[in-house]
Amino acid sequence: MSRITLTKLRAMKAEQQKIAVLTAYDASFSHVLEQSGVEVILVGDSLGMVIQGQESTLPVTVDDVVYHTANVARGTESVFIIADLPFMSYANAEQAISNSARLMAEGGAHMVKLEGGAVMVDTVQQLVERGIPVCGHLGLLPQSIHRLGGYRVQGKEQSQAETLLNDALALEKAGADLLVLECVPAALGKQVSAAVSIPVIGIGAGKDCDGQVLVLYDMLGITPGKRPRFTHDFLADTGAIPAAIAKYVADVKSGDFPSPEQQF
Ligand code: KIV
Repeated sequence: MSRITLTKLRAMKAEQQKIAVLTAYDASFSHVLEQSGVEVILVGDSLGMVIQGQESTLPVTVDDVVYHTANVARGTESVFIIADLPFMSYANAEQAISNSARLMAEGGAHMVKLEGGAVMVDTVQQLVERGIPVCGHLGLLPQSIHRLGGYRVQGKEQSQAETLLNDALALEKAGADLLVLECVPAALGKQVSAAVSIPVIGIGAGKDCDGQVLVLYDMLGITPGKRPRFTHDFLADTGAIPAAIAKYVADVKSGDFPSPEQQF
């Protein structure tokens, strides 16, 4: 099996083929994801909540993400692996470079993801100049949850939407190769995806993004507590984990996921 590359992901956007992304944190699930046609695995700092039982992503460390990324890398052959830079592990460009190097060299990630817009431009440029591919993350930023005051839809006001669009353009100009857009109105998801030439992967950002991502345990219906509106329990639909993942991939590809009820 040949490796999914950024070139392939860009071609998928150009050909309007939807990109199926899920989070994973271990070898066994990652293997199932790969076999089911998921193109990209995100080793998200959501691991803090769904694996470690933390209240937020903030306590996750670089060591944690390196460990889980290495597990995912061992369980897969062809998927493209993105690893999250955890809270405050990229507070300046030097830190971002050395921690990204660990995620790639020790963990086996192919790209790192960081949260934030225009403020991250210099860091993104410095990472990219050193050969480290970067995925931006805009909209709801879980690492800023205490500043945002809760897990709420972002970019509803015109001025916020304009800032977000400018942030997306700035990240692309700085060299980011991918963008995750979380919890924004579907119209804004569509606008951002059309405005940039890099693939935009939505989570609660509507059906017109170039791809979709969900937290694995949310879409299997096993995350404790209330499920966010933008996710769906695919295991309840299918009764088996491989079938649930395959249905997610098929529904992303066909545009059936997300449905109007699963967007804002
Ligand atoms: O950490 C994570 O799993 C993420 C997704 C919610 C996009 O960043």
